[in-house]
Amino acid sequence: MFLHNPEHSLTEATRDDLLEAACSTLADACAQGLCDRWGISSWDPRLLVIPAEGELPRPDVLMTRAGLLVSADILDAAERLAERLRPREAWGMSPFGGSTADAVWDRFDPRIFLREPRTSTPIQAAFRAAYRLPSVSAVAVGTDNPGHLGELTDALDLELDDHMIQQYRELLRARSQPV
Ligand SMILES: NC(=O)c1ccc[n+]([C@@H]2O[C@H](COP(=O)([O-])OP(=O)(O)OC[C@H]3O[C@@H](n4cnc5c(N)ncnc54)[C@H](OP(=O)(O)O)[C@@H]3O)[C@@H](O)[C@H]2O)c1
Repeated sequence: MFLHNPEHSLTEATRDDLLEAACSTLADACAQGLCDRWGISSWDPRLLVIPAEGELPRPDVLMTRAGLLVSADILDAAERLAERLRPREAWGMSPFGGSTADAVWDRFDPRIFLREPRTSTPIQAAFRAAYRLPSVSAVAVGTDNPGHLGELTDALDLELDDHMIQQYRELLRARSQPV
């Protein structure tokens, strides 16, 4: 069971108490056998990582946005939140930002992030790259098409070019600095 986008109902003033209460409620629900595992899913984790007092219960899963459309500050916030919460697993979501038909996907070829670009499609490369932006062990993706799902699961073994991913993160950070 996920605490869904807690940033929508928190302010800086209420954040620490409300977040602690919500996480404790879910952790208690698991302890009582009402659900198997609990987690936090956050589209914009920036409010959740402002230094907080006290420890939060450790979630089973932290799920944040992942992939090539995620901004530098959201990626950094997701990583800092994972350090703070120490979830048993980190998952990503929405690797295509909700649509592969968006014009942005025609503007570049995500296969530059693969070690062997010729053996895959751009969609597969974008999906695979989401596993490192930020580092996650699973990615929640939406599709109504079993063929599309097969294309994505076939991409799971594609090897990423770590140097290129690192360079991309540095470029993203540099471009997000105020001039
Ligand atoms: N917490 C939040 O605020 C929040 C917000 C959004 C999403 N989420 C989570 O993230 C999950 C995924 O997000 P999402 O569905 O909005 O976005 P997404 O996974 O980034 O994109 C889904 C789109 O990608 C297309 N697609 C998938 N595989 C494809 C392929 N192989 N080839 C071509 N197109 C492909 C799908 O079209 P087809 O159907 O034609 O394949 C669909 O239109 C959701 O189920 C949810 O769990 C959370």
